[in-house]
Amino acid sequence: MNAEEQEVPRHVGVIMDGNGRWAQDRGLDRTEGHRAGRHAARRFMRAAQARGIEYVSLYAFSTENWTRPVSEVEALMELIETAVLVELEELCREEVRLRVSGRRSELPEPLQNALSKAEEATAENEAITLNLCVNYGGQAELVDAAKQIAEKVRDGEMQTDEIDTDIFARYLYVPEIPPMDLLIRPGGDMRVSNFMLWQVAYAEFYSMPDYWPDFQPEHLDRAIEDYQRRQRRFGGLVLED
Ligand code: FPP
Repeated sequence: MNAEEQEVPRHVGVIMDGNGRWAQDRGLDRTEGHRAGRHAARRFMRAAQARGIEYVSLYAFSTENWTRPVSEVEALMELIETAVLVELEELCREEVRLRVSGRRSELPEPLQNALSKAEEATAENEAITLNLCVNYGGQAELVDAAKQIAEKVRDGEMQTDEIDTDIFARYLYVPEIPPMDLLIRPGGDMRVSNFMLWQVAYAEFYSMPDYWPDFQPEHLDRAIEDYQRRQRRFGGLVLED
């Protein structure tokens, strides 16, 4: 195995699935599953940082999640707001930079304010970037980027011929987020579920049966080992020595 294959993935995404089933198995309300999921997110961030991962994207609320019962949606909004505010001290201490992806203006105002506050307070941190995806949809992100580019062309600030993948990527919610290397999905499903459709283009997919609230650092180690065993070809050929 060569040095390149041993590399730790630079950007890891997580579809934090299985909270509801975890709660159901225990006779608890689904909200309790999300609460436990929040603690799993903290464990994940610590483990990711310790292993040298530079960017983590967590799918906290999708553009499709609004169709859930109002009580669950409200609980999730409050949970994300509280988590961001309560964890702010630790984010600062651990040098975590928080960025947010999603249609923020559609979120409740207190949550919008909490997200902006945490982004500002952590803007200079450099150890690891947490890209929190809230009211996020991969298709919505592409549509929102396309709209901005269309406006530039309409206003004569950009020529259609100039548009290529590098230019397009500048209009994504958080342009500095690099392509995703590894996408982890707990809960056993094998779907991308509209998560970071642009960034995921060449990501290695790792599905694990355990529910998200049961996440432990060993799960991340297994996912990284699996990732390191794969040969990434990016659409080309890998020639044997
Ligand atoms: C999917 O599980 C999970 C969600 C829709 C919410 C995830 C959000 C959190 C864990 C809160 C984290 C907050 C921060 C700030 C990191 P599901 O409800 O679809 O589970 P199921 O498939 O078992 O029903």
